[in-house]
Amino acid sequence: MNRKVTTLSVKVINLLNEQIQHELANYSIYMTFASELSLLGYKDGEKYYLCRAHEEKKHAQMIMHYMRLNDAPVSIKTIDIPQYDIVDISIPFIETVNREIFTTEKLNECYEAGIEGKDYAFTAWLANGLLKLQVEDEEPESRIALSIINGEGSDLGKMSAILELVEKEC
Ligand SMILES: [Fe+2]
Ligand SMILES: [Fe+2]
Repeated sequence: MNRKVTTLSVKVINLLNEQIQHELANYSIYMTFASELSLLGYKDGEKYYLCRAHEEKKHAQMIMHYMRLNDAPVSIKTIDIPQYDIVDISIPFIETVNREIFTTEKLNECYEAGIEGKDYAFTAWLANGLLKLQVEDEEPESRIALSIINGEGSDLGKMSAILELVEKEC
């Protein structure tokens, strides 16, 4: 790629476009969990996942904004998300931890592509932005939520404790 056209390499652009898809998939998955928990009568669980979904949409927008700043082409595609069988209220919380670990791995691939291309402006942006937020997404927001679900107490009480993990931010 000609640096006068965009400062980002083709590899970084492709990975960032894929990352937008991953973030939007997270958005859709968390909206699905919000709706499932609402149907089961867990209003706090619904609010928690609406907040998580909102964060994921912001992540996609952060990448789009960065790509625009660097005149890189953004492509948004239709996203297929897995179907989850919510046979137990722990399922969304287990799947959220899995999803966040996957998201961290994908962000790390973006970071590695930046290092490979010696694009330190990009790796600095990633480290100070999305990668930093990803630490919160995995821990406390996902792993602590799962440990609350697996712990003692009523299901309604657990959902209200989980909501407190994000409520300040939404
Ligand atoms: Fe995210
Ligand atoms: Fe996340």
